[in-house]
Amino acid sequence: MLDRLDTTLRVRGGVRLEGSTSTHGAKNAALPIMAAALLAKGPVTLHRVPRITDVSVMWSLLESLGARLRYEGENTVTIDSSNVASFRAPYALVRKLAASFDVVGPLLGRFGRAEVALPGGCVLGTRATDLHEQAFIALGCDVRNQHGYLIAESKHARLHGADIEFRMPSVGATKNAMLAAVTANGTTTLRNVAMEPEVIDLANFLTAMGAKIAGLGTDTIVIDGVAELHGVEYEIIPDRIVTGTLLFCGVVTRGDVTIRRCVPAHVRSVLEKLTECGIEVTTGTDWIRVNAGAITGGTEILTAPYPGFPTDLQPQAVAFLCTAPGTSVVEESIFNARFSYVNELARMGADVRVSMESNTAVVKGVAQLSGAPVEAPDIRAGAALVVAGLAAHGETEIIGLEYIDRGYERLEEMLSDLGGQVQRSVGVTQLVEASGLFETTAYPRVSPASG
Ligand code: UD1
Repeated sequence: MLDRLDTTLRVRGGVRLEGSTSTHGAKNAALPIMAAALLAKGPVTLHRVPRITDVSVMWSLLESLGARLRYEGENTVTIDSSNVASFRAPYALVRKLAASFDVVGPLLGRFGRAEVALPGGCVLGTRATDLHEQAFIALGCDVRNQHGYLIAESKHARLHGADIEFRMPSVGATKNAMLAAVTANGTTTLRNVAMEPEVIDLANFLTAMGAKIAGLGTDTIVIDGVAELHGVEYEIIPDRIVTGTLLFCGVVTRGDVTIRRCVPAHVRSVLEKLTECGIEVTTGTDWIRVNAGAITGGTEILTAPYPGFPTDLQPQAVAFLCTAPGTSVVEESIFNARFSYVNELARMGADVRVSMESNTAVVKGVAQLSGAPVEAPDIRAGAALVVAGLAAHGETEIIGLEYIDRGYERLEEMLSDLGGQVQRSVGVTQLVEASGLFETTAYPRVSPASG
């Protein structure tokens, strides 16, 4: 007999959420900005860095390269890259975090060489790197794949500016190209770039370090390379995906909630969809209030690059639409395998039919979801199960909390600010071998710290 320790989230459904809570700093801005600190000549101090496990992995990666990091406060981190001596990012860390690939650009800028394990695929689909490679080659590198690593090496003492047109906007490739180009010799023009707020936050951070970047907010960025970048103090933008997740948590309970310390413009496409469903949306400079007293129906969603509807809120939107009257249609255009979580929603009584050919989900609203034990297959799908659990009758126990913790800093506390009954539990799962099969029995123990 074997024992395994599992951390789960237990969600008591049917409680109408009310009140207000705040969003934390953006994961997808913090990760490349931490990587960009490799380019700074002096120490970098970052505020509003979320305490999530993806940040811990990037922290370990930067340490493995020789950087020194320390917490100065709950969400303030100082990074000193003066002793960085390695340009190799090992598979052991990259496999835990595809965004580890963000270090390629800074390492090329700093050493003219980078050896970084390829991210390969993840549960959402393939994580191709051809657009990253296109940029590195244009900037003057030899690039090859060797034993699972991307090896990029500048042919000259410094990278040189280039005119690069991407076949599609990629968040990762735009970031990496920008990170490599800011200290290149001459001017780089990047066309058809991603315009996500996190890309712009990275550019603003680089600019604060002394980089020269024009055209932000448009699909063409022009970078004049500078010889070196200096240390800086900088605050990360609010996390729009956390904001959106909290909004869906509120509306799925037909609640009236206010999300503070966020940027309403960053979730405009989401607010438009909520309005279409009959939800009352009010915004201020840094807050959003949603009142879901009268939901009139579902909607149609197509995920798309920013300012389109974010793919990272697609699962949470589907979970909400499972409870909205009528039929909704949700098409995923960014990742090719992002609907696997609907099997878990089905265990809660949801009616969602997925067409693999068109990467589309047809969601029929049901009168009542029912709480069930479910498993989070990835970060945002885990969040979607929380959304569903909040509306369900009874208790939902979500295994796979480690995924949720990759992107949400103490989600249960944000929800408890809104009156949600969500608890983090540690339980022992006994694995019993019987006739070649494993049977599992969980004995959950509620942790006293969580609300
Ligand atoms: C980032 C976000 C992720 C979000 C995604 C889309 C981070 C850490 N992650 O991921 O949460 O879901 O943006 O908003 O910021 N592609 C290629 N070739 C390439 C690069 C990408 O074909 O060279 C494809 C990918 O396979 C994927 C799509 O483009 O299907 C989107 O990728 P990209 O925009 O690069 O997203 P990520 O940076 O991986």
